[in-house]
Amino acid sequence: MSGQAIVTGAAGGLGRQIAARLGEAGHRLLLVDLDQAVAETACELQNTGASAGAVVADLTHDDGAAAVATAVREQGGSIAVLVNNAGITRDARVKNMEEADFAAVIAVNLVAAMRLTLALEPLFADGGAIVNMSSRASLGNFGQANYVTSKSGLVGFTRALALRWAPRIRVNAVAPSLVDTPMTQAMPPEVLEKLVARIPAGRIGTPEDVAELVSFLSSPEAGYVTGQVVLACGGRSLAA
Ligand SMILES: NC(=O)c1ccc[n+]([C@@H]2O[C@H](COP(=O)([O-])OP(=O)(O)OC[C@H]3O[C@@H](n4cnc5c(N)ncnc54)[C@H](O)[C@@H]3O)[C@@H](O)[C@H]2O)c1
Repeated sequence: MSGQAIVTGAAGGLGRQIAARLGEAGHRLLLVDLDQAVAETACELQNTGASAGAVVADLTHDDGAAAVATAVREQGGSIAVLVNNAGITRDARVKNMEEADFAAVIAVNLVAAMRLTLALEPLFADGGAIVNMSSRASLGNFGQANYVTSKSGLVGFTRALALRWAPRIRVNAVAPSLVDTPMTQAMPPEVLEKLVARIPAGRIGTPEDVAELVSFLSSPEAGYVTGQVVLACGGRSLAA
C-alpha cells in the first residue's frame, strides 16, 4: 500500500535508512525529529526521487505530536505506515541511576510513542501498519534498567494495540541488537568490540538490516502478521 509513511527519529542512523527504504517502496515520507538536521535528511531523500517532508518536533510534548498530525493533514491523504523509532539512552548501573534519567528514557522511548500513535490513529488508512522500534535489550541488559524497561514496555504496548485495533491497523515491533549508528558509535570502542564479539552472526547490524525488516512488516506481504516482535539481532538473543 502506498500512502504516507511517518518515521520518527528520522535524523538518526536507523530512522534515515528506514525512511529511505519506505520511500523506495513508494510511500510519501514525513520525517520527524527533535534534531533540525531532519530537514536536510528530507532534502537528501528528495534528491533520490522520494517525496519527503520534515517536521522538527519534540515528541515528549503534546505540541510535538500535534505538529506531526497537522503536517500529515497538510501533506494530504491517510497514513499507511507509522514507525515509532525515536529513542535515547541514559546508561548507568541501576544503583547509580538518577530518577531523572530513568524518567527521560521512558518519556522518549515509550510515552512519546504512545502519545504520537494515539494522536495519529484517526488519520490512518484501513490496512495501515505501525512498527515500534524495540530492542534486543528488552530481554535484559546490564547498565540499562531504564532502556530495558522502555523497550519491553513498547513490546507490551505493541501487543495491546494490535489486539485493540485489529483488523484495521496492524501493529508490530522490531527488536535489533547492536546496529552501527551514532547511538552505538558513541560507545567506547573497547566496550562495543566486546559486545559485537557476542553476536553469533559475527558482525554488528547495519541500518539496512533493520530497514528491510521494517519495510516488510509494514507491507501488505506481512498482512497476516500483527502483535509480534521480530528480533533482528544476528542471533544475539540466543547467546548467553
Ligand atoms: N543503534 C542500535 O544499536 C539500536 C539497537 C536497538 C534499538 N535501537 C533503537 O533504534 C532507534 C533508533 O536508534 P539509532 O541508533 O538510529 O539512534 P540515533 O541516536 O542515531 O537516532 C535517534 C533519533 O531520535 C531522535 N530523538 C530523540 N529524542 C527525541 C524526541 N524527544 N523527539 C523527537 N526525536 C527524538 C534523535 O534526535 C535522533 O535523531 C532507537 O529507538 C533505539 O533505541 C537502536
